[in-house]
Amino acid sequence: MIDRRNFLHGAGLAAVNLAFLPAIVRAAERIALNTPEEAARDEDYWATVRRAFRLDGRFVDLQGNAVASAPIAVLDEAKRTSDVVHSLPAYHLFRYALSEKTRARTRLASLLGANADEIGLVRNTTEAITTVLRGIKVEPGSEVVTTNQDYPPFIRAWQARAERENFTVRVLELPEQATNDQLVELFDNALQSQVSTLMACHVLWRNGRVLPIERICALARQRNVTTIIDGAHGFCQVPTDVREFGCDYYGNSLHKWALGPIGTGLLYMRKERIAETLPLFMPWDSELAEDRIEKFEGPGTSLPAWPSVNASLDLLEAIGLERKFARHAYLTRYWTEQLKDTPGVVLSDEPDQQQAGGFAVLNIEGIETYDLFRHLLDIHSLLPGYNESGLVVASQIYTRKTDLDAFVSVIKNVAQNGIPSTVV
Ligand SMILES: Cc1ncc(COP(=O)(O)O)c(C=O)c1O
Repeated sequence: MIDRRNFLHGAGLAAVNLAFLPAIVRAAERIALNTPEEAARDEDYWATVRRAFRLDGRFVDLQGNAVASAPIAVLDEAKRTSDVVHSLPAYHLFRYALSEKTRARTRLASLLGANADEIGLVRNTTEAITTVLRGIKVEPGSEVVTTNQDYPPFIRAWQARAERENFTVRVLELPEQATNDQLVELFDNALQSQVSTLMACHVLWRNGRVLPIERICALARQRNVTTIIDGAHGFCQVPTDVREFGCDYYGNSLHKWALGPIGTGLLYMRKERIAETLPLFMPWDSELAEDRIEKFEGPGTSLPAWPSVNASLDLLEAIGLERKFARHAYLTRYWTEQLKDTPGVVLSDEPDQQQAGGFAVLNIEGIETYDLFRHLLDIHSLLPGYNESGLVVASQIYTRKTDLDAFVSVIKNVAQNGIPSTVV
């Protein structure tokens, strides 16, 4: 009989590359008595963390909110697992890869404040939220409420479904300048008796604003409204506890803020909702179709990806999520503070500064966002994102203060002098 340990070892599966961990753990010991906010300011510590990544040094990545770089160990693990699994799929897929998937599920559940049997492992937020918005019942004649700041494909998906079924979709306008109390009041007024379902973002994708999701879900719960939270930018960027939020569904992409490999995500579903929610892909087994979370893990879900998610969780746990949240908030404040009084510079409003996460939006009066983006990229090798709201500037845990200094200096210059015309 094959001894499992020796078999895996022979296949190269026993040697997970965790070379980066001891240095980070040692560095964490040095700052163990510091508060997360103090740790957030410790550049030596974050320089150690940065060494866990293999970054393309030609550009400064300020677009890590879309897809973040994954640590070297995650990429090595993804390659290694893929090689080994493909060498004998019938054996490895359903042993090593599956047991690692189960391990990832348990670890993710504990970070999210959920039970493992409430966490479906999917490819991304798109799969998670689409599963829910196609899989739940919507009472005929009722109303689905969402906001103009939600992810456009999801709003369109609701509208397409409503056209075929007998319900309506209401898109709430979230004002740019609003306090949390004002936002809660807006949802309070919108959640009238005809409303059956609410879909909202945990963190707004356009400008990084964190919504008071716990208060909004509490209002919905009091009125029996089903809550679907698009947490693409929540989990691992800002504190996230689905049990505290009290939402029914929460979707996330691990390749954004959880440092997982591209193509990994999760779908949290409150246990009581599992049986009544249909999966995107029907499973073979009719029992599985009832109340097991695995029924949402369609045939497209890539088993070999999950061992590498465990490597990203090793890094997240070694750093500690509290420190990570504090670092995101610190870096955002670091560059926004330097620019907030610069004439011509307009920052996305942050009335609740303490909730700031890792990205925010900037505009310069009189300058087209796309021109600014091209100038930053082509002349200064700085790569932010952009959307209708302006330039989106995101920092990840590998972003250095010096990177942000370079960005701030260009913005000050452009705000004062405009974009220099290119010399030919
Ligand atoms: C708010 C929001 N929801 C959903 C998504 C979709 O994420 P993914 O492409 O990882 O499925 C994004 C992508 O950036 C997003 O910003």
